[in-house]
Amino acid sequence: MFGTATASYQVEGAWDEDGKGENIWDRYTHSHPELIANNATADVACDSYHRYKEDVAILKELGVDFYRFSLSWSRILPTGYVNKVNLPGVTYYKNLIKELKNNGIEPLITIFHSDLPQPLQDMGGWPSEFLIETFAEYARLCFELFGDDVKYWLTFNEPKQICIGGYGQGYNAPGINLTGLADYVCAHHILQAHARAWHIYDQEFRATQQGQVSITIDTRWFEPASDSEEDVVAAETALQFEYGWYANPIYNSDYPEIMKTRIAERSLAEGFNHSRLPAFTDEEIAYISGTFDYMGLNMYTSNLVAAKEEAPIAEPNYDYDLGVNSYQPDDWESSSISILKITPWGIRKLLNWLKETYNNPAIIITENGIPDNSSIIDDVTRNYLSNVRSAIEDGVNVIGYSVWSLMDNFEWVLGYTQKYGLYHVDFDSINRMRTPKTSAAYYKKVAETHCLVDTCEE
Ligand code: NOJ
Repeated sequence: MFGTATASYQVEGAWDEDGKGENIWDRYTHSHPELIANNATADVACDSYHRYKEDVAILKELGVDFYRFSLSWSRILPTGYVNKVNLPGVTYYKNLIKELKNNGIEPLITIFHSDLPQPLQDMGGWPSEFLIETFAEYARLCFELFGDDVKYWLTFNEPKQICIGGYGQGYNAPGINLTGLADYVCAHHILQAHARAWHIYDQEFRATQQGQVSITIDTRWFEPASDSEEDVVAAETALQFEYGWYANPIYNSDYPEIMKTRIAERSLAEGFNHSRLPAFTDEEIAYISGTFDYMGLNMYTSNLVAAKEEAPIAEPNYDYDLGVNSYQPDDWESSSISILKITPWGIRKLLNWLKETYNNPAIIITENGIPDNSSIIDDVTRNYLSNVRSAIEDGVNVIGYSVWSLMDNFEWVLGYTQKYGLYHVDFDSINRMRTPKTSAAYYKKVAETHCLVDTCEE
């Protein structure tokens, strides 16, 4: 299956229209414009709230099998709680789903993609245990409202960006810097919230709706900087801290041993009485393990990893807990974002590692892409896809691939400066004109023919 992806806050606009409540990104962009490139907001963004038919028209033109989009929690539940449902918000998503189905495009829905209702942040956000059940009730409502027409669900997008970005290193809303503490607690709750939602679907909806539920976790590929045993261990440690942290409890069971050991040791040395990484009970481990019907993966780039000396015992810090030297050589080809170097070979290695580490799950690559405006996007996509194809030949069970993104959109703190779209959006025009780039024509050919080269056999 071939598709493209977007997310509610990045494309919808209509930030306070028709009863929608405020979310943390509304609050962040409005109260801290200086933190966003060119003081941008997503108050209007691509205006998809009013232009979803145009979005479906370009998806149709692209010939994709599915469209991955996310639901804005605050548009459906303005305060975050299920006691007050906002009907226009529900109608918007029903219309979008209907329009997709009428055009033969399968919806793949992310229930939560970073835009937490502000009133739930005021309750403490993801570091608050209270959010587990609040999310579970929201997820149940989504299954009830839309599930008859949805075959693929994702509970969460990129828990790393939510927890490290939002609560650990503070580079994303709500901008909290409590590294080595709040990030671990955030992830602990998100994993439980994900598992609750999966079980709710399994028990209450699966029999009638027959869909599949998973979570999408992002990771880079980490390549050992040398053949030395220390560097090989360091690269595996990086994979476990970046990906295994969220994936191991779901696809295997419990947090990775290396995380449990390192964080416990450093916590005790720092004077804590217990590990800063919260522990799951045996019952919780069993409840979370196996809560997936496929594996969702977002992958963009790779790093080299070398061992490094243990950091001195100081304040809690995720990077010290991780304790490796991870970097990108200057001579790797760069995209328009310097940390997103182009490493198509990394996706093949990562896919093979996932197969070995998590017992060969069915994988949907829910995001892969490159920020640039030039025609190199075609070559980059082709090279990544050709490595995905090699991975399939290696025996990895990849069942779907989705380009980020359908169209240029609001790239979080980078505002509108980074252009990931297959379609260009004219953010200066009132109608937010969508125009295909050359990459749209390339991807259309791939989606329609499943062939990556120019000279395809019939
Ligand atoms: C990760 C996120 O899921 C998405 O929101 C973001 O825009 C892209 N990747 C590109 O950074």
